[in-house]
Amino acid sequence: MSIIKTFDVVIIGAGGAGLRAAVEIPKEYSCAVLSKVFPPRSHTGTAQGGVCAALGNMEEDSPENHVFDTIKGSDYLGDQDKIEIMCYDAVRAIIELEHMGLPFSRNAEGKIAQRKFGGHTKPVDPNEPFGKRVPVDRACYSADRTGHVMLQTLYENCIKNSVNFFSEYFVTEIIIENGICKGVVAFDISTGEIIIFHSKVVMVATGGYGRVYRITSNAHVGTGDGTALIYNAGLPLEDMEFYQFHPTGLWRLGILVSEAARGEGGILKNKDGERFMARYAPSVMDLAPRDMVSRAIITEIREGRGIKGSDGTDYVFLDVSHLGKKIIDEKLPEITGFARTYLGVEPTKEPIPIQPTAHYAMGGIPTNENCEVFLNETGDIVKGLYAAGECACVSVHGANRLGTNSLLDLVVFGRRGGKAINKFLQSVELSGINRDAADKSKYAMQNILEKSGNEKVYAIRTELQESMMDFCGIFRNENDLKKMVDKIKELKEKYKNISVQDKGKIFNTDLVEALELDNLISNAESTVYGALNRKESRGAHDREDFPARDDVNWLKHTFISKNGGQEPVIKYKPVTITKYQPMERKY
Ligand code: FUM
Repeated sequence: MSIIKTFDVVIIGAGGAGLRAAVEIPKEYSCAVLSKVFPPRSHTGTAQGGVCAALGNMEEDSPENHVFDTIKGSDYLGDQDKIEIMCYDAVRAIIELEHMGLPFSRNAEGKIAQRKFGGHTKPVDPNEPFGKRVPVDRACYSADRTGHVMLQTLYENCIKNSVNFFSEYFVTEIIIENGICKGVVAFDISTGEIIIFHSKVVMVATGGYGRVYRITSNAHVGTGDGTALIYNAGLPLEDMEFYQFHPTGLWRLGILVSEAARGEGGILKNKDGERFMARYAPSVMDLAPRDMVSRAIITEIREGRGIKGSDGTDYVFLDVSHLGKKIIDEKLPEITGFARTYLGVEPTKEPIPIQPTAHYAMGGIPTNENCEVFLNETGDIVKGLYAAGECACVSVHGANRLGTNSLLDLVVFGRRGGKAINKFLQSVELSGINRDAADKSKYAMQNILEKSGNEKVYAIRTELQESMMDFCGIFRNENDLKKMVDKIKELKEKYKNISVQDKGKIFNTDLVEALELDNLISNAESTVYGALNRKESRGAHDREDFPARDDVNWLKHTFISKNGGQEPVIKYKPVTITKYQPMERKY
């Protein structure tokens, strides 16, 4: 018999989306936030460069400019009605964060400072929105620690709101019966105790799954536990084939070097010192969207214009040295500190070696604009189940997210989800739950602990991460993707034969890593099958064998579901277009 704890609301994940939703739950309802780490250590804390809104504090701008840029940046796969909601709500969301206490950097007038970021533009002639566009200062920031201060601010506001935190709890199952969500099963990592969290509402806010790749900006926690829970519950995931590589990760390590560096005037250079982005995106150059800049860097390397590192791998340079020490110290202290600490490079004097790094999942758990999770591609919802943040797909990022739209997504949709939950709670009763609801998780965990196979979790994980880089990275083709499908099948077989060394209950991180690996494999599966199926190039999904975007056949969302032991099932949902018909995407 398991311990049962009862709450009105259970939120899985203590990053920006989960905390923003928790702030919105009125005190008369009990709200529990379950996190596998101490909340302020969630991955939102690593977000650096900013959160965007057309405040117009530095120069003229408008929410409609933001809408158009986000749609174009998404390569027309983003749902335009949802993008309008996000961009028009952005200004209010930023002022609200300021009032919550978020310490934004300030401009000379004392207003929230804003900087340029890739793909954020405005028309030179406001009467010609489709004419020449130039980069605009739209990213609100706190030096290059914007995510860090956002997370701290939201955590403090949750404490003020009497939110109940369960730190170091790992969720193993979402309990859904007959289309109704009834809670989750989790275990307390510190004791090994398995607990049923019985609730009227569950929100999944578990972040991304960047740890499926070897070079990644994602923290170790980024194993996509929420998307895997949903996939393994037989529910669909949307657009998983669209995975973003951030152009500038520290060479070999993948640690994020914020796009803010280029927003402040930093320049990408190849081995000849050439500012190569001038050839790929003549109007915005280094401030082109991420999919384009990442492809440009890999193309430079493939064509022999990268710099060969000591271990034989290649990189290009990000040069900020011309910005001067004052700007670097004031506006980019974190990333330049990383360059000094991890690569021994002095950014005020020399360029930083960088390479693209796996950064962000555009796809995820399909939801409507109120974060309610879809049961299928026709729009039915799972009662009581919500998702927000990187693990969700509203879809506002389509095939490629613009930098700084991620923190915005968290706060806009975290709040909307919180408000929708509040409304839902006013009319819903706690439904009954079986006392044996945790048995499946118990047996699964016991089974892992009892395994005595000779396969090691770290070895399977490394093989998965290496092969995802090689076969399902920035450039893709059928041959490689098929190899990756075979690799996943092979790794699933190997997983059956693992063993964990630690057989105990207290802080069994061996067990946690085994469970996380299972989740990573599920995320890799949905990503790779989605990528193999989509026979076109769009945004971050670049098929060398289908180099053109194909709006006739592929202007649609992928809905992929697990199908027992068989190949996953893929269905489609149309993209919502309001006023911007797809155009050629040039910068
Ligand atoms: O480059 C950055 O600072 C990352 C921002 C983002 O992913 O939105």
